[in-house]
Amino acid sequence: MAVPYVGRMRFGLVGTGYWARVAHAPALARTEGTELAAVWGRNPRAAAELAAEYGATPYHDVSEFLAGIDAVSFAVPPDVQAPIATQAAREGKHLLLEKPIALTEPAADGLVEAVERAGVASVVFFTQRFQPDVRAWLAEVAARSGWAGAVSAWLGSALEESNPFNTPWRRDKGGLWDVGPHVVSLLWASLGPVVSVTADPGPADVTHLVLHHQGGATSTTTVTLSATEAAACFEVYVWGESGRLAAPLGSLDRVAVLSVALGELVANARAGQTRHPCDVRFGRDVGRVLTEAQRQVDARRAGIV
Ligand SMILES: NC(=O)c1ccc[n+]([C@@H]2O[C@H](COP(=O)([O-])OP(=O)(O)OC[C@H]3O[C@@H](n4cnc5c(N)ncnc54)[C@H](OP(=O)(O)O)[C@@H]3O)[C@@H](O)[C@H]2O)c1
Repeated sequence: MAVPYVGRMRFGLVGTGYWARVAHAPALARTEGTELAAVWGRNPRAAAELAAEYGATPYHDVSEFLAGIDAVSFAVPPDVQAPIATQAAREGKHLLLEKPIALTEPAADGLVEAVERAGVASVVFFTQRFQPDVRAWLAEVAARSGWAGAVSAWLGSALEESNPFNTPWRRDKGGLWDVGPHVVSLLWASLGPVVSVTADPGPADVTHLVLHHQGGATSTTTVTLSATEAAACFEVYVWGESGRLAAPLGSLDRVAVLSVALGELVANARAGQTRHPCDVRFGRDVGRVLTEAQRQVDARRAGIV
């Protein structure tokens, strides 16, 4: 078991790309109780530049990077995150993970096992789950009963040429894996655990999901990264006996929200608490929904069903 943490937590940041620069590095620098001590990147120059900006040490070797830190914050593609996070957990580091936690079930299961064996704290940054106004909305949803279901869509424009999120794994995996985790996480939190999913692809990376929740509610969502900026939106509402309640998904101070997630990770590590509503186990459960959806999408595209 990892020893409960005392004092400032020395974080290493994995990744030097857009999200690392605009969200993780500034959030690590400003969150009470955290210190950005080390930066790892496959590009040594980018790692050196980002580290210099924050007075941190750049690394190219993962083991050397991990040796001097207490926790790791990830801002790399999921298939890069999973093996490094598994190694970090085995070495007793607490984890601030990005969604999705991995791209395959074995990789996700291996990460969960490493976290559980080491007894480290973990938080997956399902962004909206850390927004105070969305948390208030979820509390209101929980306080009322009789919800029949939810309707939602994330029409993203990340694949537009000039979008900073137009990166290789997003072009490859599309909206199901990039914005899908956020939507499934919110639907899960508002209507209960997802017990089954039906998925049907549309054009480009458009994916339609129908979710059945424990307790009987059903929800639908459409996710894509191929929308134009003019069409882009993120909407979720639940509906039922008492009417309709829309989630407040407007503008977002990403550094402030990530700072909430980091603060909760640090508090849990200090308390020796490894459970969190958005911990690595929840990240794995959301990933299982996406994996099954992907299986159905592939089968439909191949004309098997
Ligand atoms: N929670 C949220 O709201 C939110 C928002 C945005 C992003 N994210 C998550 O944050 C993560 C990073 O996103 P991003 O937008 O910065 O783009 P990204 O393409 O996921 O990551 C870019 C970073 O990963 C590095 N990288 C790419 N392939 C690599 C490989 N094979 N080995 C080692 N490093 C590699 C890049 O290095 P180079 O610069 O050398 O290419 C760059 O540092 C993703 O997991 C994404 O899901 C979450």
